[in-house]
Amino acid sequence: MADHSFHRLYRHFQELPISMRVLFTGALLVVGLGYLFAALYVFAAHSGADGRPGLSVEDIKITYSGSAETTQLESALQGPMSGMLPQKDLAAMLDWIREGAAKRIYTVKIETIIADNCLSCHDGSNPHLSNLDGFENIQSVVAVDTGADLFTLVRVSHIHLFGLTFIFFIVGFIFSHSYVRPVWLKSVVIATPFAGVISDVLGWYVTKIFTPFAWVVLIAGIFNGLSFAIMWVVSMYQMWIYKVPEHVRTRHQGDPDATD
Ligand code: HEC
Repeated sequence: MADHSFHRLYRHFQELPISMRVLFTGALLVVGLGYLFAALYVFAAHSGADGRPGLSVEDIKITYSGSAETTQLESALQGPMSGMLPQKDLAAMLDWIREGAAKRIYTVKIETIIADNCLSCHDGSNPHLSNLDGFENIQSVVAVDTGADLFTLVRVSHIHLFGLTFIFFIVGFIFSHSYVRPVWLKSVVIATPFAGVISDVLGWYVTKIFTPFAWVVLIAGIFNGLSFAIMWVVSMYQMWIYKVPEHVRTRHQGDPDATD
């Protein structure tokens, strides 16, 4: 049987003043655009970590815990940088890295390969690209990759926790004015992203030492995205298009306090 009871303070979107609905719509539009850009950023920043296209659990493991098998230079040469140099130079560089990246071979062979193929971009003038000019600078990209450092994680954690609380509070508050039954389902949709944000952020640290936890990070991200999408679409739809059911619309009739 349908649940026809309502909390005294519940108001459906269409019982709210137009100005409030306009405010909600504006907030949803901008925050939705923000979510798209955030997703795009996560994808662009992490999907290449394992050298294969697409965002996978492997990418998350490498991002947080590093990769015991490869160095940053090797992953770049097997991934996005593979087309930057002739095949035989690529092979020479990979051999050099795998044999321990010794300075002697660097001076004999590798230095010129890098000068000819890489320094046009990696000469240190672009702060976003690693500087590959000279043996000293190369050291930082051939060191074993240990993943995101603790300081970076702590910095990103507090930004994430504060920022996402605002986003999910706003979207959840707006969504609370929709008509969704059963009420527990509506509450689960509202609560999920908060649980998701906590497991996501804590998951980064756990993944650093226990890589299978990357699954939790990935699944938490998917659940966050899903509940965001549900709250966004349902709110927009019920605000402007939805026809409110009879029993919701007429529930104040005969109520002495009803003003509308
Ligand atoms: C045309 C410019 C260009 C050239 C030439 C180039 N790279 Fe890159 N490289 C980039 C860009 C842009 C990125 C970052 C984007 C990405 O990861 O796809 C990058 C990323 C990298 C990274 C990952 C770390 C970082 O700096 O962000 C490594 C390592 C790297 N390149 C090595 C090389 C090597 C070795 C060569 C020469 C064989 C080379 N690159 C040639 C543009 C270039």
